[in-house]
Formats: sequence, C-alpha cells, structure tokens
Amino acid sequence: MKTLYLALLLVPAFSSSADTAPKVSAQQFVNLQQGDTVFAGFRRAHAKGICISGEFHANGQLAAYSKASLFKAGITPFTGRLSIAGSNPTAPDLKSPVRSMALSFASSRTEQWRLAMNTPPVMAVADPHSFYQQILAIKAGPAAIQQFFAEHPESKEFRAWAAQYQPTGSYAAETYHSINAFYLVNATGEQQAVRWAMRPTIAVTAGALDGNDALQTEIANRIAGGPVVFDWVFTLAEPADDENNPTKAWPDNRRQITAGQLVLTSTTAQLEGNCHAINFDPLVLPSGVAASRDPILRARSAAYAESYRRRAKEQLQGALEGSNND
Ligand code: HEM
Repeated sequence: MKTLYLALLLVPAFSSSADTAPKVSAQQFVNLQQGDTVFAGFRRAHAKGICISGEFHANGQLAAYSKASLFKAGITPFTGRLSIAGSNPTAPDLKSPVRSMALSFASSRTEQWRLAMNTPPVMAVADPHSFYQQILAIKAGPAAIQQFFAEHPESKEFRAWAAQYQPTGSYAAETYHSINAFYLVNATGEQQAVRWAMRPTIAVTAGALDGNDALQTEIANRIAGGPVVFDWVFTLAEPADDENNPTKAWPDNRRQITAGQLVLTSTTAQLEGNCHAINFDPLVLPSGVAASRDPILRARSAAYAESYRRRAKEQLQGALEGSNND
C-alpha cells in the first residue's frame, strides 16, 4: 500500500494512452506556454479575449441522450469568453491562427458545465507529451514545425484543415469545436460518445477588418446592434469511431443533432467582465455529460488549474500592493 502511495506521488503527470510514453507535468506545460515574458494576472494561453454573455435556447432534441437539465427544452443563461490563442494579452487579433469560445453554464447551484472550444476540428497529436513537443516546435520556428509534422503522421487531418482554413471577418462567423469527445448519459445510464460544434448562422468575410483589436471591436459593435446566434450541433459516434483520439474526425455521415441555439447578447472587456475570474476547465461537467478517456482532457484540466493558480495569485498580490499604496 505504502509503495503504491509513493509511486503515485512520484508519477509527475500525464502519460499518453501508451504507458511507456514520456510524461509532462502541468507546470511544464504552463512554463512553456507562458514563455519568458510573464503577463502577470493573465491566462498563460488564450490570454487575449473578451467576455460574452447570453442564453442557450434548448429545443429538447438531446434530452433523450442526456439527463443534463440544460438539454430540456428551455432557456439557460451563460457567461463566456471569445479569445485568440497565445500568451500575450495585447497581441494583434488577426495574427493568431486559432480563435476560441469558452462557456460556463450554471443550471443550478450544484450543476455546472464549463466548455472551451477552438476553431480546428481535430488536434495534430493525440497525447500530452506530443502536444508539448508540438508547442516546442512552434516556438522554435517554421523549420522545426515542418520537421515535427513529418515525424507525426497522425497530424495529417489537422494539416489538411489548416491548409484550407480561411479566417472569417468575425468571431460571430467561426465554427468552434469541442475537438475532444465526451459521453452523453441519459436517465437510464446509457452512454453515447459525442463531439460538438458551435456553428455560426451568419457569414462575414475578412476584408474589412483592421487594427490590433479588430475582432474584439467587431464583435462588441455587432452584439451592441443585436444578438449573435450559433447552432449547437452534436455528432454521435458509432462503434467504429475512436472517442479517445482527437486527431481523427468521425465520418461525415454520422448522425448529427442540433440541441438548440446559443444566443450572445452582451460583451464586456475581460478585465471588467466576470469571465476573467473563471477557469474554463473542460472536466467541470454536469450530471448527464461525462469525460472520455482521451488523455488530453486530463492534461488540459491540470494545466488550466496551474495557469489559474498563477494568475489568481498575481491578481491577489497586485490587489494587496495596490491597497498598500493607498
Ligand atoms: C494538452 C493540451 C492543452 C493544454 C496543455 C492547454 C492549456 C491551456 C491553458 C494553460 C489555458 C489557460 C487556462 C486559464 O488560465 O484559464 C488554456 C486555455 C484555453 N484552451 Fe487549452 N490547452 C490544451 C488543449 C486545448 C484544446 C484541445 C482546446 C479546444 C478544444 C483548448 C481550448 C482552450 C480555450 C478555448 C482556452 C481559453 C479558455 C478561456 O477563455 O479561458 N485547449 N489552454
């Protein structure tokens, strides 16, 4: 027993699905993602963003698959965040290759759901250590990333997506993907593996955008003029589909169910809004939604917590220094 306890303490972090793969800790991830310049008080990834809020209007179509109250026909409010990838909270919006949406639902005091989605439908790699190596390669430059992709043939679908992806002219016109799979669990305990996407209901071309904060300004103006709507579409896996491998899309003919519409009704600058203080940990799940065994999900949860721990501490220190100066 004691040996097992010690062994658990000594295992630093996440392995890939193959137990022999090297391991990487949440601290290592966050050190690498934040880089040499620390922007105190900000997220170590997706540091630049804008708070959003609104409502999810469920049509009840998914209620037979999940007992989460969110999917019963009706309306649930949310707090969320639109962001770009990267560790710099003042980076130019249009330089980032990835755009993101995060959501937090509190259906009741005990039932919460946090979601974080990106524009690519798949990841380039399937395990945390390879993702760590991918970030190292991205930081080393184009030659290193070319070599990394050549050594990781599982990145084929991601590369094909990246080659054809055309950034749109608005956060409102992107499709945001869960990438990792989850299970819907219904009232009788049946499980259905799913991935989901937030699909835009408008098209906006990139032409008119300009300026360092182009995406933030565009979405704030757009929502000030009226709600922005997305369809929340779930794709149901069949037995042949691997829910634990985020590098492989499931075939196009898989059944899809639209659970309802996400309606964005307001934006707030992140330092003034309530999204800044939320950790959009993808393993905060309601009853009726369960995590797959995809090892990336565990790595994400631990890394988001480490990033949150650092930024919360820095904010507290900043607040204390501020009050000492009063
Ligand atoms: C092992 C893989 C990954 C690692 C280590 C990682 C790490 C991180 C970290 C450290 C943060 C900052 C968290 C915070 O301070 O609140 C973050 C934010 C985020 N990540 Fe990941 N990530 C990974 C994979 C993914 C994937 C696959 C997706 C998309 C499905 C994703 C989407 C996001 C989004 C949308 C945010 C910003 C959420 C917000 O607005 O607060 N990440 N990630």
